[in-house]
Amino acid sequence: MKYESYGKVQVNVSEDFAVIGGYCVKPEYQGHGIGNNIWNSGMAHMGDRNIGLIAANMKMFEIYRDRHHFKCIREPVLYMRGQLALDRDLIDHIKGVSLVAMNEDNVRDVIEYDQQVCGLDRSVMIEGFYKTADNVSLVAINDRNQVLGYCLIMETCYQGLQLVAPLYADNCQIAELLGHKCCLLLPLSKRNDVIIKCWKSDHKAIQLAKKLGLSEGIEQMGGYTKVIPQTNVGKMYSLGSTMFYVL
Ligand SMILES: CC(C)(COP(=O)(O)OP(=O)(O)OC[C@H]1O[C@@H](n2cnc3c(N)ncnc32)[C@H](O)[C@@H]1OP(=O)(O)O)[C@@H](O)C(=O)NCCC(=O)NCCS
Repeated sequence: MKYESYGKVQVNVSEDFAVIGGYCVKPEYQGHGIGNNIWNSGMAHMGDRNIGLIAANMKMFEIYRDRHHFKCIREPVLYMRGQLALDRDLIDHIKGVSLVAMNEDNVRDVIEYDQQVCGLDRSVMIEGFYKTADNVSLVAINDRNQVLGYCLIMETCYQGLQLVAPLYADNCQIAELLGHKCCLLLPLSKRNDVIIKCWKSDHKAIQLAKKLGLSEGIEQMGGYTKVIPQTNVGKMYSLGSTMFYVL
């Protein structure tokens, strides 16, 4: 038997937190109740967890907020997007800081660092992403091999658009070094359309994205059903995608 997909909603779930992403129905099947059916199945799967999402547009945001109780609202997520420009005065080296690819030896330390910043155990995803061919990763370490930050770049499903996420680091200099060197690992053909997402008031993240050549683009609103998760925003320079938990 041949199956055809009409639509989907993706959910990432931990014990007490879940994120919804990629909620869509093929245009030719919209308006027949398929979206609501998929939505209800997804919600049942997530149960009593705190659920987060980012809405594609204001209409959907209002539906989520007013009909589905996504009432814990943060500021908008800002998309910084464009063609990379890496030839500016970007930090090229920091004394005492080395950059290494993510690998079997350091991935546990990266997962621990990640958890300290975002508050979640994302080991399954981090393991999966760094092993995926074509994804780019770098870890900043000091001379005692302690993790000072890390950066991943992955291809999205939007026609070659590259997402820099997460980019977490102890300070702006390390973030710039990581962002710069990780972007340099992208082949030239993948540097034309790159995106960094950050909270709208996160000036340090916006500044870094601009230094890499990206410009301010669209904003999206989101919400959580129970509480806004506590995260170390000071170390975040790019937020994850919904595939990687939105935070
Ligand atoms: C949003 C989407 C998945 C809904 O799928 P669908 O099969 O057309 O939805 P249904 O037929 O079950 O429902 C249609 C109606 O219910 C609303 N609806 C859809 N999903 C809903 C939900 N989860 N909760 C409440 N209402 C919903 C629609 O806005 C529409 O209302 P309207 O007639 O007042 O415009 C679909 O329109 C879509 O793929 N849109 C493009 C992608 C997108 O914007 N996704 C949302 C990302 S945040």
